[in-house]
Amino acid sequence: MLTTEVKNVDTQDIKVNNPSTSHTNATQTNGDQTPEQSQRETSKFDVKNKEQSQRQQAEVKLSTKDVHVYYGDSEAIKGIDLDIYQNEVIAFIGPSGCGKSTFLRTLNRMNDTIDSCRVTGQVNLDGRDIYDQNLDVVLLRAQVGMVFQKPNPFPKSIFENVAYGPKLHGLAKSKYDLEEIVENSLRKAGLWEEVKDRLNQPGTGLSGGQQQRLCIARTIAVSPEVILMDEPCSALDPIATAKVEELISELSTQYTIAIVTHSMQQAARVSNRTAYFHLGDLIEVNSTEKVFTQPDHQLTEAYITGRFG
Ligand SMILES: Nc1ncnc2c1ncn2[C@@H]1O[C@H](COP(=O)(O)OP(=O)(O)O)[C@@H](O)[C@H]1O
Ligand SMILES: [Mg+2]
Repeated sequence: MLTTEVKNVDTQDIKVNNPSTSHTNATQTNGDQTPEQSQRETSKFDVKNKEQSQRQQAEVKLSTKDVHVYYGDSEAIKGIDLDIYQNEVIAFIGPSGCGKSTFLRTLNRMNDTIDSCRVTGQVNLDGRDIYDQNLDVVLLRAQVGMVFQKPNPFPKSIFENVAYGPKLHGLAKSKYDLEEIVENSLRKAGLWEEVKDRLNQPGTGLSGGQQQRLCIARTIAVSPEVILMDEPCSALDPIATAKVEELISELSTQYTIAIVTHSMQQAARVSNRTAYFHLGDLIEVNSTEKVFTQPDHQLTEAYITGRFG
């Protein structure tokens, strides 16, 4: 494995959030101890580490093992192992074409919709293989919802956009139930106040930022556990982007979120951990703070310092 000493990483304009539930692979050392002290410390640290890893084990929401993705003969993802923890926001970053979207789509079998695409390896949701042939894919995509780059509301009313999923999955017992789900979802997506008086108007008539929050409300309406977001702000202006970012932080208390972003500032603002992809490989995954200040890998460093992108 390639490693390098990290020098002078210029992250002045990247502010890293300080999430309360960060998961990190970083280890610590202390050079000023006697061997005895250090051994004691080490064993204490080992216990702590073990406890932490046991806790993390219990909290793993999604887990991929040796995932490869092919488009025809071309290998786009080259064997990725990654655990995603409950209620974390994990950002996927890396140069264009490195496989971020492809990998994200393996997490709810969205690649199934691409004819030339073949996935091997294992993806577990709560320990259950999502590529199991008996699995209900429609249900899976409700559990692991997706928000796309370009807001894509259905050509229906605001109300119907949000009500569609709950109707499909039979989540509402009555009209009142359905109205409640729609209102709650729009509230969680931070859109209720802006649209409550025009629920019967077309979703496509909203501004871009509102449309994206409508799509988030639509995802939330079917009670997902994980939300996948593929560059959800890349078509939005800075104010709409700020609103969606704020929303992501609020949603992370309830959902597990994986977000692809080409904006390192955005990754730094919203995520607990960051995964750096390069040419179909997962190069490094660490706490966001570490990735942006002391990356383990020279390729990560080169990317975050802007040497390629
Ligand atoms: N539908 C597709 N058919 C064929 N090749 C694709 C398709 N989607 C992506 N690829 C290829 O897979 C690689 C990874 O693409 P992608 O996952 O879109 O990267 P990213 O999201 O990081 O920009 C690229 O080489 C891209 O050209
Ligand atoms: Mg992409």
